[in-house]
Amino acid sequence: MSVIPPVPTLLPPSELVPPLPPLHSEASGAQPRLQASHAHHSHGGHRSERSARNHDRFHPYSRPSAALQVADHYNRHQQQTHEQRKRSPIYRMRNFNNWIKSVLISRAAKNCRPKAVLDMGCGKGGDLLKWGKARIQHYVGMDIADVSVEQAHGRWKEMRNNRFSAEFHALDCYQYPLSKKISPEQRFDVVSQQFCLHYAFETEAKAKQMVSNVADHLRPGGFWIGTLPDAYWITKKLRSVDGLSFGNSVYNIRFDQKDHYPTFGHRYIFHLEDVIESCPEYLVHFPTLARLAEERGLKLLKRTPFHNYYEDAVRSDPESVNLLERMRVVERGGDRLSDDEWEIAGRW
Ligand SMILES: C[S@@+](CC[C@H](N)C(=O)[O-])C[C@H]1O[C@@H](n2cnc3c(N)ncnc32)[C@H](O)[C@@H]1O
Repeated sequence: MSVIPPVPTLLPPSELVPPLPPLHSEASGAQPRLQASHAHHSHGGHRSERSARNHDRFHPYSRPSAALQVADHYNRHQQQTHEQRKRSPIYRMRNFNNWIKSVLISRAAKNCRPKAVLDMGCGKGGDLLKWGKARIQHYVGMDIADVSVEQAHGRWKEMRNNRFSAEFHALDCYQYPLSKKISPEQRFDVVSQQFCLHYAFETEAKAKQMVSNVADHLRPGGFWIGTLPDAYWITKKLRSVDGLSFGNSVYNIRFDQKDHYPTFGHRYIFHLEDVIESCPEYLVHFPTLARLAEERGLKLLKRTPFHNYYEDAVRSDPESVNLLERMRVVERGGDRLSDDEWEIAGRW
């Protein structure tokens, strides 16, 4: 298991990148190693999907079925137009998160020149273009939210100059083996899990099923990459407040209790302005994730909080700096992330 060395909190020269908001103190290199995170990089029944179409609204604090509640949430979420996204109070932060994924994906692509990629929790196919740029040959997108899966499929069909084949499947990937939908023999060079891995930490069984699905379908020497909330950052904030919730103008996190910290099923409700309307999420105890992965022969190579990942990328990779402008994370001499957006960007 390798751990990255601390990254100094230096901003890149301003002629290269217009200044972003000052780094939050927690983004300093002095973070304890046991934080859960962020951008990670590892070697290495069935009422579910259809009934998730049911658009009844679930109360975020009731527990009909957490997985269905999550699927319902994402199924209901409309794809926004570019103009709508631009008006969002978290426009820059969403671009920043997308930029993080782009850098992560292009680095993975450089490392192993992937031909076949599994996007587990693919959502509406937000990473299809990124994988197209990585020149893959085959893409498999899976997600519990069937409406999102259909939208992802539609997006792939509409892609111009599409040079890779693709298949899309609605499946609860934390409840069932992937062999319900794909051949048990099918292997991938990369398994990608972007902003979705934490839902598996509802129970130990789900976390184990998720890891098995990765291990069973990753070819030897392949990479498992992903982005997930930093449980260390979240619990530190929780402990610093009197009540059970905290946030700022763009996000809110609310726990049911803060007396005990279970390894699995440590639930909170996350609200992110314009995108996530009070959805249940689970803290990921990162050492446990690493242990479960190791038990299945996967080795943790690197984990990095987003703020540090950003610093590292802009210092070492000029292409990622150009991408900051192209992806409208920053405008030269203009807009940038607000302080509130920058704060919540540190949650991953
Ligand atoms: C924040 S979205 C991210 C979507 C996509 N990966 C992206 O980065 O644009 C989280 C996704 O995880 C999916 N998800 C949650 N639980 C899942 C499960 N048990 N099996 C498969 N997908 C799941 C949700 O339906 C949703 O599409």
